[in-house]
Amino acid sequence: MVQSSDRYGKGAIGFHWSMFVLIVVVGTLGLLHDSWPKSTQSYWINIHALLGLLVWVLLVARFAWRTTHTPPALPPQTGEFSRRFSRPVHLLLYALIFIIPLLGIVTFIWHGRVFDFGLFEVNFGVAKNRAVFHPTEDIHGYLAYALFTVAGLHALAALWHGFILRDGVLARMWPKRATRD
Ligand code: HEM
Ligand code: HEM
Repeated sequence: MVQSSDRYGKGAIGFHWSMFVLIVVVGTLGLLHDSWPKSTQSYWINIHALLGLLVWVLLVARFAWRTTHTPPALPPQTGEFSRRFSRPVHLLLYALIFIIPLLGIVTFIWHGRVFDFGLFEVNFGVAKNRAVFHPTEDIHGYLAYALFTVAGLHALAALWHGFILRDGVLARMWPKRATRD
C-alpha cells in the first residue's frame, strides 16, 4: 500500500519513535555496562541484550512492512543537500541497527552468558572465549558510537528542518497529524 503523498503513515511513525525510545534505553544501558555493581552486572547486561534483540526484531519487521509502504516523496521545497543525503543516511542508520545487535549476540554468547527471558532461559553452552568476544565487543561498541553520532546528526537535521526551515519534513514524521496506517 502507498502512503499519503506528503506524510509518513501511522505504521512508519510508530516504528520510528518506538525504535528511537528503545535505542536510547539500550544505548544507555550499554554505556553503563561497567558502572553496575558486580552483583547486578549480569542482570543489566541481560536486559540490554533482550531489549537490543527487540530492536533487531522491530528493524526486520519494519523492513518487511516498508516493502509494501513506500515512504512519501520529499516536499518540493526541500533543498538539494537534503535530497541527496537523506536516503543514504537513513540506509546507514538501518545498516548499523542491523549489524550492531548481531555483534552483540556473538559477544554475549562467547562471553559464556545465558539469555534469561524470565519464564525460560536460552543457554548455547558456549565456553567463555576472549579471542572471540574481545574483538566483537570492541566493534559492537565502536559501531554503537557511530550509530549515536549519525542518529544525533540526523536528529539535528530534523530539528533544523522543523524549526529553522519550517519545510514540513519534521512534521511528516511527527505522530500528531498521522492519517493512514
Ligand atoms: C541497537 C542495539 C544495541 C546498541 C545500541 C548497543 C550498544 C552497546 C554499547 C554502547 C555498549 C558498550 C560498549 C563499550 O563501551 O565498550 C554495549 C555493550 C554490550 N552489548 Fe550492546 N547494544 C545493542 C544490542 C545488543 C544486543 C542485541 C546484545 C546481545 C544479544 C548486546 C550485547 C552487549 C554485550 C554483551 C556488551 C558488553 C557488555 C559486557 O559484557 O561487559 N548488545 N552495547
Ligand atoms: C535513535 C535515533 C534515531 C534513529 C535510529 C532514526 C532513524 C530514522 C530512519 C531510518 C528514518 C528513515 C525512515 C524511512 O524512510 O524508512 C528516519 C526518518 C526520520 N527521522 Fe529519525 N531516527 C532517530 C531519531 C530521530 C529524532 C530524534 C528525530 C527528530 C528530532 C527524527 C526525525 C526524523 C524525521 C523527520 C524523519 C523523516 C525524514 C524524511 O522525511 O525524509 N529522528 N529516522
